[in-house]
Amino acid sequence: MSDVPSTSTLTGQPTSIARRPSSHANIIAVTSGKGGVGKTFISANLAAALTRQGLRVLVLDADLGLANLDVVLNLYPKVTLHDVFTGRAALEDAIVAAPGGFHVLLAGSGMVEYSRLTPEVRNQLIHTIDTLAPRYDVVLLDTGAGISDVVLFSLSLASEILVVATPEPTSLTDAYAAMKVLVTQQKRHSMRLVINQAARAGDGRAITGQLQQVLNRFVSTESGMPMRLIHMGDIPADQAVRDAVMRRQLLMQSTPACPAALAIAQLATRVKSTLPKREPA
Ligand SMILES: Nc1ncnc2c1ncn2[C@@H]1O[C@H](COP(=O)(O)OP(=O)(O)OP(=O)(O)O)[C@@H](O)[C@H]1O
Ligand SMILES: [Mg+2]
Repeated sequence: MSDVPSTSTLTGQPTSIARRPSSHANIIAVTSGKGGVGKTFISANLAAALTRQGLRVLVLDADLGLANLDVVLNLYPKVTLHDVFTGRAALEDAIVAAPGGFHVLLAGSGMVEYSRLTPEVRNQLIHTIDTLAPRYDVVLLDTGAGISDVVLFSLSLASEILVVATPEPTSLTDAYAAMKVLVTQQKRHSMRLVINQAARAGDGRAITGQLQQVLNRFVSTESGMPMRLIHMGDIPADQAVRDAVMRRQLLMQSTPACPAALAIAQLATRVKSTLPKREPA
């Protein structure tokens, strides 16, 4: 695997954003480019749906400086990744059981020290994932918005990238930009796409086709082949999502039969069916 040097966005210093060797675990990073499109909502509810389907799931809040997975799950963590990273707590003590039956590692909020990738953050993230991933069938990384070096490094730790986009042109433009960076920097050959807040059935398939055409034209992978975009499903815009977030409940628990929850259950089935069989660690 190549070690791709990059430049820290804040310091201008070179920071290595390296794709790591394939791990024994299925690590799926949820990303989007644009903020506020539903990454955290999808990570939490997809984790609940995968757990229902019999998988052991861990969600790591990789939005290290501006975390809010705890808010969505109505958790008040005593220990966060920040405590672990600064040596104040053991990693085991930061693992929290979430309402949906899965485990979470929560991060802190309002922490400017996580706005750039330092060697400490880098090593701590690697250590955390290497230690915990073998215990789970799936690890979901709920990343922050944008393409900062912290976000890109979290993405480099994943075996699969799940891009979340809404049908809005701004979201699609940012999703495309993030994909382009991931192909060039991390030599990704394929990525998965879920369209959130879809207005009509069929939106996602059409959008995936359009994005694939642009990728074919302007972005080529190391082998010269186009990057393959795999449509994983659509989640409709649904008032029940907003209601669940306001009540700080999992949609899969509060209204499991609403259209968005049914779509997430389908997404989980699709994700589960596409998981490669990994050798035991
Ligand atoms: N399918 C949907 N239907 C209706 N509203 C939705 C849907 N998905 C997300 N939302 C709304 O969008 C809000 C933002 O979602 P969320 O916090 O998951 O986005 P995010 O991508 O994680 O944001 P950030 O980039 O800040 O981390 C939710 O609180 C919810 O109100
Ligand atoms: Mg989020």
